[in-house]
Amino acid sequence: MPNEETALERLRSSEKYQKLFATAFPGQAEPISWENLTSAIGAFERMLVTPTRFDKFIAGDDDALTNREKQGLEDFISNGCVTCHSGVALGGHIFQKFGVYQDYWLETKSENVDEGRATVSKDEADLNVFKVPGLRNISKTYPYFHDGSVRDLKEAIRIMGKIQLNRELTEEQVENIAVFFDALTGEIDPKYTENPHL
Ligand code: HEC
Repeated sequence: MPNEETALERLRSSEKYQKLFATAFPGQAEPISWENLTSAIGAFERMLVTPTRFDKFIAGDDDALTNREKQGLEDFISNGCVTCHSGVALGGHIFQKFGVYQDYWLETKSENVDEGRATVSKDEADLNVFKVPGLRNISKTYPYFHDGSVRDLKEAIRIMGKIQLNRELTEEQVENIAVFFDALTGEIDPKYTENPHL
């Protein structure tokens, strides 16, 4: 585990991190351990959630979404987007083929075809399989797909309907889903993007 050792050595060489780890994991002979480091990173990442109006809606506040956004959520669910984009992040926890009904590059116009997981696993079943991305802050994180081949969110939504679900979404459905996606944009606490002063 050379990389793990390098990370631990680097942390141990900082007096500030020694103190911070000793405070966070009291009573341990060596607080800067791999296990504690991964727990600390997990605790940090769990704070990176960006609360949105969608979360308020899920928590029971019916007025948190506009009617249009509710319609978009409805379209997102009824068309089957949620079979892959599910959970708190609307994705982020499974791998799926990109291009279930048709080769993805015909729609994305990707210049280079990336075979996805098959490149590393050498398993035919992984051909064009990619991680299903979470959709929080999706309105802000263009360009889309693994190769950034699509710049326009509505185009990405249309392509998803066509090649993942074999559905030609109407312009209105695409619009509604895009409007719903705006409700997934949250604020990030600036504290979490500041450089640490060591
Ligand atoms: C069968 C699984 C599946 C279904 C159903 C599905 N998606 Fe996806 N979605 C994916 C995968 C896999 C990717 C990643 C493709 C890539 O990285 O190239 C993706 C990517 C996306 C992206 C781009 C995310 C980014 O950060 O680049 C958007 C937006 C999206 N999906 C929206 C939708 C919408 C809207 C629907 C319903 C109309 C839908 N998806 C249905 C599997 C699915």
